[in-house]
Amino acid sequence: MAQVLLENVTKLYDGNVTAVNNLNLEVADRQLMVIVGPSGCGKTTILRMIAGLEKPTSGTVAIGDKIVNDITPNNRDVIMVFQNYALYPHMTVFENMAFGLKIRKYPKNEIKKRVAEAAMLLDIENLLDRRPKTLSGGQRQRVAVGRAIVRKPKVFLFDEPLSNLDAKMRTTARAELKAMHNKIQTTSIYVTHDQVEAMTLGDRICVLYNGIVQQIAPPQQVYNKPANAFVAGFFGTPAMNFLDGLIQYRNDNAYFITNTEAVLLPPRMKTLLATYKDRQAVLGIRPEDISSQPISGQNKNAIACTVTVAEPLGVRTNIYLKSISGRKIIITASPYTNIRPDQRITIYLNLEYAHIFEPGETGRNISLDT
Ligand SMILES: Nc1ncnc2c1ncn2[C@@H]1O[C@H](COP(=O)(O)OP(=O)(O)OP(=O)(O)O)[C@@H](O)[C@H]1O
Ligand SMILES: [Mg+2]
Repeated sequence: MAQVLLENVTKLYDGNVTAVNNLNLEVADRQLMVIVGPSGCGKTTILRMIAGLEKPTSGTVAIGDKIVNDITPNNRDVIMVFQNYALYPHMTVFENMAFGLKIRKYPKNEIKKRVAEAAMLLDIENLLDRRPKTLSGGQRQRVAVGRAIVRKPKVFLFDEPLSNLDAKMRTTARAELKAMHNKIQTTSIYVTHDQVEAMTLGDRICVLYNGIVQQIAPPQQVYNKPANAFVAGFFGTPAMNFLDGLIQYRNDNAYFITNTEAVLLPPRMKTLLATYKDRQAVLGIRPEDISSQPISGQNKNAIACTVTVAEPLGVRTNIYLKSISGRKIIITASPYTNIRPDQRITIYLNLEYAHIFEPGETGRNISLDT
């Protein structure tokens, strides 16, 4: 059993930088937790505190059922895989993978056995005699992972291990990492700033911003029930549309009103938002929940717009729009759409899938049922 538990962990660096602010994070045994957030939000700092390379200013870090704050990195049974794999150039793949065991004085046959196992798992058996400079980026990444696997740690920490790979290689390597985790089932914490990597890899995702946890949940929940406007805007391409406005109640219905547009909120929101009557708020709606065709039951939620740009992507076309009141809205359309720039169109919002946030960059989602 190697769950990882961080309780009330804060890290202040010299110069008064709060890199991590009162973090509470529980990673269950065998789980793959992804920590995602923009550059500088504190991701590497969290990994370094778990690895023992950095001391928390306050709070506790536990691995298994043991608090490890005072345990040295070497005795934590945790291995970190970095962005630059730092393979030894003068050693073969076998020697690179064996190195950590050799300096720990493992018997020769045990080393051979472990390297062979890891090489089979990662499908690099035919590379064992090669040197790193003769390998592709993806192959190097596998060797780096292999070097960590042979140590059989309790916990793997991955710090953006795929960020040096090109887009196509990343997709393959991502799938390989996921398959590897499914096989070896070691508790893993994976750090990235890439929302797609987070969605596809994580059993659960921890969204971090400015050293503060915004939400911890499974991928689908982070996407469909974002806790706040930051999380909502972070996931999804193109990003969610945000419209400022006012929540108003008229004739026993709840509306969201912008300068010139009014849309009817669904009944569940009417109940949820009663205490926000006449208050400023932000309506969030994903491009895929807006259509250029009427949506059954949503015909009150039409907005007249002018097309500014149509961006064909092959699999779909992104349509950039400006409403009469000057709001910018993005919708997605079929690749065969005949919508063209300068055209006037009416769009229909499926408010069943919309969210209402309090104003501000991390404004709370006030339209969640639970
Ligand atoms: N040794 C240090 N001394 C002072 N400040 C530091 C130190 N290390 C990191 N920081 C600061 O702490 C904050 C968090 O840094 P961290 O490296 O954890 O971010 P990150 O999320 O890993 O970013 P990136 O995605 O760019 O790798 C940043 O503001 C950074 O400048
Ligand atoms: Mg980092």
